[in-house]
Amino acid sequence: MENSNTAEYNSIDTDDQPHKTVGQVTVDNPRIICRGVNVYYDEKHAIHDVTIDIGSNEVIAMIGPSGCGKSTFLRCLNRMNDTIASCKVSGDILIDDRNIYDKNMDVVLLRARVGMVFQKPNPFPKSIYENVAFGPRIHGLANNKAELDEIIHTSLEKAGLFKEVKDRLDQPGTALSGGQQQRLCIARAIAVDPEVILMDEPCSALDPIATAIIEQLIDELREQYTIVIVTHSMQQAARVSQRTAYFHLGKLIEVGPTEQIFTNPQHKLTEDYITGRFG
Ligand SMILES: Nc1ncnc2c1ncn2[C@@H]1O[C@H](COP(=O)(O)OP(=O)(O)O)[C@@H](O)[C@H]1O
Ligand SMILES: [Mg+2]
Repeated sequence: MENSNTAEYNSIDTDDQPHKTVGQVTVDNPRIICRGVNVYYDEKHAIHDVTIDIGSNEVIAMIGPSGCGKSTFLRCLNRMNDTIASCKVSGDILIDDRNIYDKNMDVVLLRARVGMVFQKPNPFPKSIYENVAFGPRIHGLANNKAELDEIIHTSLEKAGLFKEVKDRLDQPGTALSGGQQQRLCIARAIAVDPEVILMDEPCSALDPIATAIIEQLIDELREQYTIVIVTHSMQQAARVSQRTAYFHLGKLIEVGPTEQIFTNPQHKLTEDYITGRFG
């Protein structure tokens, strides 16, 4: 046992060994299929050979120690890494059998289908209305003002914000509380009719009450969207997700049903992390 553990730890630091993830990487009804994904920042190998399916209408949590590659991997899913000059991605990431890294891929459209919500709420310096209207305007989703109003209304409703802001849609988004701003950013993502929403530690700048509201919202959104959430909070992962993926030093160590990952992890590294031995 001691020997095999040592071997596991050693293999983590060795760049070129093939990596086998423990657990269930595939699902019956995948929305995104990732195969052999590697990411480099110049010489730095940040993501090693990650293979995983993201299921339809599931919330999947990505957990692991700081710097293990959660954000890097999340950004692969809508080519947000394209904006980092040193960053190179290889491997296959498929949505509807189409590789999103195809040179013919329309990246603007991809980022509408795979929306993103960031750690720090980042509303545009515009009105609440215009924040949500921005995407639908770019993508020509409304033929007239009435249709646009309807999209704004529905998106704010789905983001659980409509009641709180309906009488002040013309006021700046930045004047809202942190939790409301984050729900505004979720409404902005929803407004362009995405299939997947990526969330990178969406609650880490929020107080516990605002966090609870967002977590409740994530659970409701799952009916319509696939959600990939990076979180440094294991409690949050346990509360909101159905599947959990554990990353360590750029490798996907283990993935499986959330309850099983937290009660009966198969890999020593996962167990060490969830029992608080490091991280
Ligand atoms: N823009 C970047 N340029 C160079 N290295 C980066 C960049 N972003 C992240 N990294 C490195 O890649 C590794 C993974 O980082 P990251 O994905 O941010 O981890 P996490 O989100 O799990 O904390 C870290 O070693 C980090 O220093
Ligand atoms: Mg991160």
